[in-house]
Amino acid sequence: MKKSFLFLYATAFLLFACTKQPLSQASYDIIPQPKEVRLNDEKPFELVPKTLVYYEDGLQREAQFLSEYVNDILGYALNVQAYQGQPDGIVLKMVPENFGQAEAYEINITPKQVTIKGADAAGVFYGIQTLRKSLPVSPIDSSQRTSQRWNDMGETGCQLPCGMIRDWPNFAYRGMHLDPCRHFIPLDSVKVYIDMLAMHNMNQFHFHLSEDQGWRIEIKKYPELTEIGAYRNGTVIGHNGNLYDTIRHGGFYTQDELRDLIQYAAERHINIIPEIDLPGHMQAALACYPQLGCTGGPYEVWRRWGVSEDVICAGNEEAMLFVEDVLNEVMDVFPSPYIHIGGDECPKVRWEKCPKCQAKIKELGIKADDKFSAEDYLQSYVMNRMAKVVEARGRRVIGWDEILEGNVSETAIIMSWRGTEGGIEAARKGHDVIMAPCSHLYFDYYQSEDIANEPMCIGGYLPMERVYEFQPLPEELTPEQQKHIIGVQANIWTEYIASFRHVQYMAMPRMDALTELQWNNPQERDFEAFVERCRKMAQLYDLYHFNYAKHIFNPQVWADTVASNLATRKPITLRQQPAEKYTYDGAKVLNDGELGRGAYNSGRWLGFCGYPLDAVVDLEQVAEMQHVRLHALVNKGAWIYNPSQVKVLVSDDGETFREVAQKDFPISTWADKDGIFAFEVEFEPVAARYAEVVVSGYDLPEDHSGFGHPAWIFVDEIEVW
Ligand code: ACM
Ligand code: ZN
Repeated sequence: MKKSFLFLYATAFLLFACTKQPLSQASYDIIPQPKEVRLNDEKPFELVPKTLVYYEDGLQREAQFLSEYVNDILGYALNVQAYQGQPDGIVLKMVPENFGQAEAYEINITPKQVTIKGADAAGVFYGIQTLRKSLPVSPIDSSQRTSQRWNDMGETGCQLPCGMIRDWPNFAYRGMHLDPCRHFIPLDSVKVYIDMLAMHNMNQFHFHLSEDQGWRIEIKKYPELTEIGAYRNGTVIGHNGNLYDTIRHGGFYTQDELRDLIQYAAERHINIIPEIDLPGHMQAALACYPQLGCTGGPYEVWRRWGVSEDVICAGNEEAMLFVEDVLNEVMDVFPSPYIHIGGDECPKVRWEKCPKCQAKIKELGIKADDKFSAEDYLQSYVMNRMAKVVEARGRRVIGWDEILEGNVSETAIIMSWRGTEGGIEAARKGHDVIMAPCSHLYFDYYQSEDIANEPMCIGGYLPMERVYEFQPLPEELTPEQQKHIIGVQANIWTEYIASFRHVQYMAMPRMDALTELQWNNPQERDFEAFVERCRKMAQLYDLYHFNYAKHIFNPQVWADTVASNLATRKPITLRQQPAEKYTYDGAKVLNDGELGRGAYNSGRWLGFCGYPLDAVVDLEQVAEMQHVRLHALVNKGAWIYNPSQVKVLVSDDGETFREVAQKDFPISTWADKDGIFAFEVEFEPVAARYAEVVVSGYDLPEDHSGFGHPAWIFVDEIEVW
């Protein structure tokens, strides 16, 4: 009985398959989640190869995009035509009067027609993105898609459930940043990055074009900037040790290439914001024009990472005119309403000693006060002067949050990166703000705790969950002040990211979480449901051969806890506290049963520098022991080394201790591997109530750039048995 039923079913299926493939179904559960989706049970719209796309004036390119996307996903391009009357098919329209804000859209799906109406062309474009992301992506290789799914297998297509979708963005500014200076990124890859942004409904691309380690934009008035400044003669190996490779690295974008890129982005409704970082991060420019620095040089295009002390001389009129010229040429190339002028990480040590800078401070009547130094105000002079140059051409400046240190003009938009505090202060003062805090939106940070199996990166720990929980509108602000938060952005710095494949790996899928914040800023967040929608995005990433991280799709189960031992969760005290920044929950982190994991700032390690970790555990009863083990993190670039010695003492009364074991561990060399390592001491069995463990570090060895300074130790989970 059962068998014959199966046979009949299989026969029917085969017959059906030979004549016509069943249509696959679109699903509107996408990233970002559309704000309103109302479906009905009318017969679905059938998107088939003969479906036509009709466009109203000004939407031809959008129609072509839709056709291309359908071809990418379903394997057949749709024909596009100018709109006439009320035909069946897909219709693209601009209806500004239907919407209360820019970039909004509405999609009506009926059995015969799909209408995408936008408040503007961008709105239509986002409607198209929604349709694109709703289409079912089959797992077959895209190169075979056409033949397999269409030509060879009979008529097929896709069903769009009928109903209505209404959607609009919460933030007007939705951006991502990219640093092609630390490692050069070829133009074609930058275009792929723009494709990634478009797929995530972003409209701002912050392009960081100047750095200590390389100048990347052709400036016709100063050709040396790219002849000399675009190349460095080697790069430090790892996290700023003393070893360098000798590979010349660099590249730059010509103004023609940039105009082409701007056009490419504009078609995708993305504005490119160029950044010239001032007055710090200018060493590559100084290498070309040493007279513009306080000391006169010589300077090299920097081969190290970090913050150079050599900055533009603020007291030198020639240097200021140089910057003005550069900004003017940048504005000739980029039509962006925003021009980013940096302002981050500008050490003042040269200015403090420079006669020209000091003369300028006098001339301007600048005085230090209880908040800021005279040199801080000198930086405000530079930033405000450049803001005037930018504003004279009808543009607005963006600066990193350091520009609040002084008296920056209220017209500047503040990009809050060191946290949200700068953004909060700025919004209170009336600045517009873009939130890009490193605590949640620095995509150059690790996205997994299993750093031994991740490509080396700058550090930090920023998993999807943390990005997704970010609240761009701080509760500390009034609703009126919150209106100054115009946008949200994530940044990708490339000190440790040398290929575009790696850029993609760091960007995705964290971009999915960012997109949800930018477009929806959802009040209630359901991480699990969100991850399900990310799976659909991942199918598109596969289709387009985008590289992306898969941690959230294959959650790793690893030994996160240690076996219960004599010390587990017993009273523990530290004779000296850890560094304040790395104290977290204090001593109890050391015997909470959970193993140290992730980066040094994951909260699972206690950090000590210049003195030993000295912990006393009360075992709460006399117990026999003969082993002590602990784990330590080694990240030499971050000055974190292994312990040099572990000492064990015991006591019966908690007051008088006697040493029972001491073991030395070798000092690491730069060539040794970073990672998490166990340090174990075995000794003659001893019975006692209290165990004291003393873990000592050492000074940084000769092959480290910080030679002679004390190394850090980061320790977790002391086990006793
Ligand atoms: C920055 O990350 N230095 C803005
Ligand atoms: Zn100077």
